[in-house]
Amino acid sequence: MFGPGCDRLQGLIWKWRKITGLFCAKCLLKLLSLLLPYYVCFQGWVRSVRSQKNNLFLHVSDGSSLEPLQVVASADLNTRGLTFGCAVDITGSLEKSPSQRQTVELQAHHIKVVGECSFVLQDFPFKIKGHHSLEYIRQFPHLRCRTNTFSSLLRIRSEATAAVHSYFRDNGFVQIHTPVITSNDCEGAGNLFQVEPAGSDDIADKDDHFFSVPSYLTVSAQLHLEVMAGAFPAVYSFGPAFRAENSQSRRHLAEFYMVEAEICFTDSLKDVMKLMEDVFKSSTAHLLSNCAEDVWLFHKSISICFVFNSISYTEAIDILNRSAQPFTFSPKWGCDLQTEHEKFLVKHCGNVPVFVTDYPYDLKPFYTRDNQDHPRHTVAALDLLVPGVGELCGGSLREERLDLLKARLARAGLESSYAWYLQLRQFGSVPHGGFGLGFERYLQCVLGVDNIKDTIPFARFSRSCLL
Ligand code: 4AD
Ligand code: MG
Repeated sequence: MFGPGCDRLQGLIWKWRKITGLFCAKCLLKLLSLLLPYYVCFQGWVRSVRSQKNNLFLHVSDGSSLEPLQVVASADLNTRGLTFGCAVDITGSLEKSPSQRQTVELQAHHIKVVGECSFVLQDFPFKIKGHHSLEYIRQFPHLRCRTNTFSSLLRIRSEATAAVHSYFRDNGFVQIHTPVITSNDCEGAGNLFQVEPAGSDDIADKDDHFFSVPSYLTVSAQLHLEVMAGAFPAVYSFGPAFRAENSQSRRHLAEFYMVEAEICFTDSLKDVMKLMEDVFKSSTAHLLSNCAEDVWLFHKSISICFVFNSISYTEAIDILNRSAQPFTFSPKWGCDLQTEHEKFLVKHCGNVPVFVTDYPYDLKPFYTRDNQDHPRHTVAALDLLVPGVGELCGGSLREERLDLLKARLARAGLESSYAWYLQLRQFGSVPHGGFGLGFERYLQCVLGVDNIKDTIPFARFSRSCLL
């Protein structure tokens, strides 16, 4: 929060520390701040200006916290261009505030307007003291980071990103930078964005693809993580995924971030479930301890004391069929769960996260592990459904048995394109599994944000690519 103005003070502390050699810098800083005014340099954007006869009061935000810093200056420091929205560089002393509203304030000695905000008030989309809905500010992707709500969201997103990385690092996972461009369609759902140089029309008819083969923006890092799981027992990635979903729904984006992990030497879906649960809980705990004020702005009743529930897909269908709820799509064994079904199941299970396990064989991609059961043929795949969102994670055990995998790929006509994938099973294959968590849906869930487009800095969805 504080800039180069601190250096002088730190220098002084180090000199003193040399003499005393007894205290750490932090203790000395605390001691000194009691004895001396704390000289700082503060840079940020003016959120409000209140001018009185003798004094000038500013609220200045540097993006580090929800509350701006109160700056008090003598009226003669008021200068041209010092208005709402301008960028300022202020030096002064940090002092205990006489007001109950903040603990400290900055007594300004010098104020420099670095960048004027030369707007005609009517042109600026946000009112100085107004509260705007997330839907309204979404129309201004180049300006919405300046609002309280969206800057809080961005700080939370940044903290959640750090929390995810910390979790995996602390638990011995190796991070893999998986490619954005790939020649595989991991999920086989047919919602791929194809990649070719701009201006190459009718690419489907051409044999001269840029990469010699058709290539796409990745829909999932899973297959690349599975490659790495041949050498590392626990790997993860955290990067963008792209899906050409022609959907305006409040939980689909064309570009979103996915946290994906793959663990080896496991033959139980329970290990994958535990990992999903741990990632969710540790990230949420981190948010509550590191940016509670920002989280509070969104959600007044966040809880991480979730007991995660678990039901099989077959049980889920039974529950849906027994309910009196009139569904638009009637639930049927063998058909995908719709959003309305997912929401009902979450409520039915006590409004807590619910794992739905063991889906029909024909519903899941080629890589899912065959349960070889009968008469209802299922695979060891699971989804995690959460309150307010529905599906947050998808995962499975992967088919590690060469013969079964070969037969399934052959039936799908994919054997030749996945020769390399089959080799992973030939050379030191281990039982393994993993999952993918939609990062924006996670933020939706923990913050109670209704529309996924308000959880990502720049939302991409069908018919919209602003900026
Ligand atoms: O369930 P999905 O499709 O699973 C996979 O891609 C696996 N290959 C992951 C793995 O096992 N490594 O996607 C995982 C999650 C979903 O549960 C959802 O939260 C999110 O990614 N997701 C989307 N989020 C926003 N917009 C979209 N269009 C999304 N599609 C999936
Ligand atoms: Mg899924």
